[in-house]
Order: sequence, then C-alpha cells, then structure tokens
Amino acid sequence: MTAVVFALLASLPAAAFGPALRECANCHPAQAKPHPASAMAQALEPASSGALLQSHRSLAFKSGAFSYRIERHGNESIYTVTDGGQTISTPLLWSFGAGSLGQTYVYSWGGQLYQSRVSFYRALDGLDFTMGARNSNPKDLTEAAGLRMSKDDQVQCFSCHATHAAQGRNPDLLHMTPGVQCERCHGETGNHLAGLQSGNAAQAHLNSLHSLSTEGQSNFCGGCHRTWDQIASSPGLGVLNVRFQPYRLTNSKCYDVDDRRIACTACHDPHQPLSHDAAAYDRQCQACHAGGKPSAHACKVAATGCSGCHMPKVEVPDAHHSFTDHQIRIVRANAPYPE
Ligand code: HEC
Ligand code: HEC
Ligand code: HEC
Ligand code: HEC
Ligand code: HEC
Ligand code: HEC
Ligand code: HEC
Repeated sequence: MTAVVFALLASLPAAAFGPALRECANCHPAQAKPHPASAMAQALEPASSGALLQSHRSLAFKSGAFSYRIERHGNESIYTVTDGGQTISTPLLWSFGAGSLGQTYVYSWGGQLYQSRVSFYRALDGLDFTMGARNSNPKDLTEAAGLRMSKDDQVQCFSCHATHAAQGRNPDLLHMTPGVQCERCHGETGNHLAGLQSGNAAQAHLNSLHSLSTEGQSNFCGGCHRTWDQIASSPGLGVLNVRFQPYRLTNSKCYDVDDRRIACTACHDPHQPLSHDAAAYDRQCQACHAGGKPSAHACKVAATGCSGCHMPKVEVPDAHHSFTDHQIRIVRANAPYPE
C-alpha cells in the first residue's frame, strides 16, 4: 500500500502543490492528482507566475482617447493606461480566470485595489472591455484604467476564486491560497489530518459532501455559480442568466430535487477538468431516458449526441464565449431564449 502511495506521489507535478495538498494526495490520489489541472483550481493566479501572461508578452487595446498595454518585464506584467497626456503604469497583481474563456486583472494604485477595465479573451486572443465596462463613461484616467474594489468586492471576488481569502468580513489576501482548492469545498482539514495521525476516528471525521441531496448540491455549487433563488429574484438578465447553471437546470423538466442522476456531480467531477466527452454526457441522459425510473421518454430523433441538441450553446454578449444552456429542452428553430 505504502509503495503504491509513493509511486503515485512521485508522478505528481510537485511544484503545483502546497504541502497540505501533497498530504491529501497521499491518501486521496483520485481527487488530488487531477485537481490542479482543473479550471476551478486555477481560477486565480498571481500575475507574476500565470501561464497566460507569460506567453502573451505584449497586449494592446485602444478605445477613444485611452490606450491600454500589458507588457512583460522580467517576472512582472506591467499595465499601462494613457490618454496621451497622463499615464498610469503599475504591475498587475492577480489574474482572475483560468484563461480558457478569459482573464480579468487586479492591480493596486494609490493604495487601493482595482479591477482592470480591459480583459483578455481567448476567442480574440487579445484584449477587449471587461464585461459591463463597454458603456461605462470614465470621467478621468483612473476610472478609464479600472474599477475600484471596495472591501466587500474584494471579499466576494476572492472568496469565489480562491481559498481562505477572508477573515470574517475582511479580505485576507496575505494568507489566501489562489484557486478553489480542497478546503474551499470540504472545509478545514487540520482536525482530519491530526485525527488520522493519532488514530482518533472522531476527530478525523470530515463532513461528507456525498450526503447532500440534488437540491442541496445545487445550492452548494450555487454558492459560487449562483443559486436558483438568487437568479429568480433578479429577473431581466436575459441570456446573461445562461451562466448560472443551478438556475437553468432547475427550470428544466429533467430536474428533480431528489434524483441523484440530475445532480451537478452526475455530469461533473469537481476534481477533474471539464470533460468534453459527448458520449459520457449521453450516458447520464440515458440513465433516465433509456427506461430509467421515473421513466422519461426516449428521443425519436437520435440515439447519441444528446447534449449537443438539447443543451444548446448560447452566446453571451461581451463575454466572447458561448455557454452551455443547462435548461435541458427541445430546441425549436427561431424560438426565443426561455428566461
Ligand atoms: C493518512 C491518510 C489521509 C490523508 C493524508 C488525508 N485523508 Fe482524507 N480521508 C482519509 C480516510 C481514511 C477517510 C475516511 C474517514 C472517515 O470517513 O471518517 C478520509 C475522508 C476524507 C473525506 C470525506 C470523504 C467522504 O465524502 O466520505 C474528505 C473530503 C477528505 N478525506 C479530504 C481530505 C483532504 C482535503 C486532505 C488533505 C488536506 C485529506 N483528506 C488528507 C485519509 C486521509
Ligand atoms: C468557491 C466557489 C466555487 C464553488 C463552491 C464551485 N465552483 Fe465551479 N467554478 C468556480 C469558478 C471561479 C470557476 C471558473 C474557473 C475559471 O474558468 O477561471 C468554476 C468553474 C467550474 C466549471 C467549468 C470548468 C471549465 O473547465 O470550464 C465546472 C464544470 C464547475 N465549476 C462545476 C462545479 C460544481 C459541480 C460545483 C459543486 C460541486 C462547483 N463548481 C462549485 C467556483 C466555484
Ligand atoms: C459569487 C461568486 C463569484 C464572484 C463574486 C466572482 N466570480 Fe468570477 N466566476 C465565478 C464563476 C462560478 C465563474 C465560472 C463561470 C462559468 O463558467 O459559467 C467565474 C468566472 C470568471 C472569469 C472567467 C472568464 C469569464 O468571463 O467567465 C473571470 C475573468 C472572472 N470570473 C473574474 C471575476 C472578477 C474580476 C470578480 C470580482 C470583480 C469575480 N469574478 C467575482 C464566480 C464568481
Ligand atoms: C468545487 C468543490 C470541491 C473541491 C475544490 C474539492 N472537492 Fe472533493 N468533493 C466535492 C464534492 C461535491 C464531493 C462529493 C461528490 C459526490 O457526491 O459525488 C467530493 C468528494 C470527495 C471525496 C470523496 C470521494 C469518494 O468518492 O468517496 C474525497 C476523498 C475528496 N472529495 C477529496 C478532495 C480533495 C483531496 C480535494 C483537493 C485536491 C478536493 N476534494 C477538492 C467537492 C469538491
Ligand atoms: C445532465 C448533465 C449535466 C448536469 C446535471 C450538469 N451539467 Fe454542467 N455541463 C454539461 C455539459 C454537457 C456541459 C458542456 C460540456 C462541454 O463543453 O463539452 C456543461 C458545462 C458546464 C460548465 C462550463 C461552462 C459552460 O456553460 O459551458 C459549468 C460551469 C457547469 N457545467 C456547471 C454545472 C453545475 C454547477 C451543475 C449543477 C447545477 C451542472 N453543471 C449540471 C452537463 C451537465
Ligand atoms: C433524473 C432523470 C433525467 C435525466 C438525468 C435527464 N432527464 Fe431529460 N427528462 C426527464 C424527465 C422526467 C422529463 C419529463 C418527461 C419526459 O419528457 O419524458 C425529461 C424531459 C426531457 C426533454 C423534453 C423537454 C421538453 O421541453 O419537453 C428532453 C429534450 C430531455 N429530457 C433531454 C435530456 C437530455 C439531453 C439529458 C442529458 C443531458 C437529460 N434529459 C437528462 C428526466 C431526466
Ligand atoms: C440532432 C438533434 C438531436 C439529438 C442528437 C437528440 N435529440 Fe432528442 N429531440 C430532438 C428534437 C428535434 C426533438 C423534438 C421532436 C419532436 O417532437 O418533433 C427531440 C425530442 C426529445 C425528447 C422528447 C420526447 C417526447 O416524446 O416527449 C426527449 C426526452 C429527448 N429528445 C431526449 C434525447 C436524448 C436522451 C438524446 C440522446 C440519446 C437525444 N434526445 C438526442 C433532437 C435531438
């Protein structure tokens, strides 16, 4: 057993792990080994070490009087914004987003943290306005460069993209671990490790996320992906709400609060990178639509590729990306998007 554990450990990219995660990998290789490659684990990176900024050494964007540049100098990516007269120039501190769709940057200016007014988009392989910023009307260079983040903004953004990012209502960026790591979902593991070491089973016990119902899981993932309640109480989002999977899925006829076959983790392993294997998703549909109970109808049109037709990709304006509609449904030509 020990030999197996160490063989597994040896194959891990050690540099990607903190000491705690390396310890988890000892006993939970199935979760700990693939997790660092997932978008959730990479949801936040220091700008100094992020792969995207290292491979994109010079980025530029212009809008009206304002010019934007992100340029690599040594280990830093310098954000420079100018109106031709004045210039703001400062190193980027944090990259939000694993980069598969895009990245938004956080920097410090005048002792305050700001969110960059331009973001990187994979589809453009370049910069454009950060979502929501296109129609903002900056009254000076500081506003043209970015949006100041209040203490609450910091707690919210970093808590969804990192682990241990806040102490109560205060941001704690010094002690946070970037990315959605084990403890962000499973809670503190100090007692788990101590109990395992001393053989104290009660102390070692960790609450299992297996015990969540389908609805409970929707709300748990919804803690960051937004819950049905949150979106239902902010109507009028239009296609923007396609990004909020718990809301969309709940509105589908397939959804059942108690049926594990339609839980987020029936289709997604949160420890793995997002799967693009259509056949794997087909199996999840067929768990109910091929005579499963409660018995759901079978499709008269096709026997494979279910999600491709019934979970259409929806383009979100300004995101330069199409998201997967989790409101599973029959898609009719020219039918409006069902909010
Ligand atoms: C020495 C081996 C060992 C190490 C190291 C270890 N665990 Fe565990 N873990 C176990 C055992 C054994 C159980 C089952 C104990 C129980 O159910 O009370 C368990 C249970 C769990 C569970 C609950 C699984 C479930 O749903 O039933 C989670 C989550 C978990 N560990 C996460 C972690 C994380 C995160 C780390 C790293 C910080 C870690 N473990 C380190 C041995 C280990
Ligand atoms: C602490 C916040 C948080 C929680 C809790 C959370 N997520 Fe995420 N999730 C994120 C963030 C942030 C991203 C975006 C990562 C990126 O692209 O930068 C993401 C991305 C994803 C992706 C897309 C990955 C990709 O490669 O595009 C999937 C799938 C996903 N989450 C599923 C889940 C499931 C299932 C749960 C519940 C078991 C869950 N998430 C819980 C924050 C969270
Ligand atoms: C309530 C949790 C939450 C908060 C707060 C939050 N995010 Fe996210 N963020 C997510 C999730 C979940 C995703 C994944 C969306 C998806 O794949 O559908 C995401 C994705 C992203 C992405 C990936 C690219 C994209 O356009 O989707 C970027 C960039 C990003 N967030 C930046 C930020 C910034 C900057 C802030 C603060 C100003 C922030 N986020 C606040 C949960 C959050
Ligand atoms: C985005 C949230 C999230 C993150 C991050 C996460 N987990 Fe989990 N984990 C879950 C959920 C949800 C389950 C229950 C899955 C289910 O019910 O199918 C789970 C289950 C487990 C289990 C029990 C597996 C089993 O089948 O018995 C272990 C062990 C575990 N996680 C360890 C880890 C370790 C180690 C890490 C960090 C490398 C980690 N998790 C990161 C959400 C997460
Ligand atoms: C019946 C299967 C199924 C269930 C259940 C499901 N998803 Fe998905 N999900 C998919 C498919 C299919 C994709 C697209 C995969 C691809 O791009 O190849 C996807 C993609 C995603 C993405 C990536 C962003 C996007 O829009 O493409 C996120 C994030 C996500 N799901 C979160 C969730 C969450 C959170 C839940 C639970 C509320 C959930 N999913 C439940 C099938 C499912
Ligand atoms: C938990 C079981 C379950 C799962 C998993 C499931 N469905 Fe369903 N689905 C149902 C039920 C129940 C209905 C309503 C009765 C019916 O139409 O057969 C339904 C209805 C539908 C409908 C008709 C919707 C309408 O608007 O009339 C389509 C299309 C569909 N499902 C496709 C899928 C696809 C594609 C997947 C996988 C991505 C999937 N389902 C996964 C149970 C499920
Ligand atoms: C090429 C696109 C396509 C693919 C692939 C596809 N479907 Fe369908 N499906 C349709 C269309 C279109 C309808 C509506 C048929 C009608 O009523 O005219 C439909 C209808 C359905 C219905 C409603 C049946 C009823 O009688 O109420 C279900 C359930 C369904 N599909 C499930 C699935 C499942 C599960 C898969 C994968 C095994 C799948 N579909 C694959 C296009 C597709």
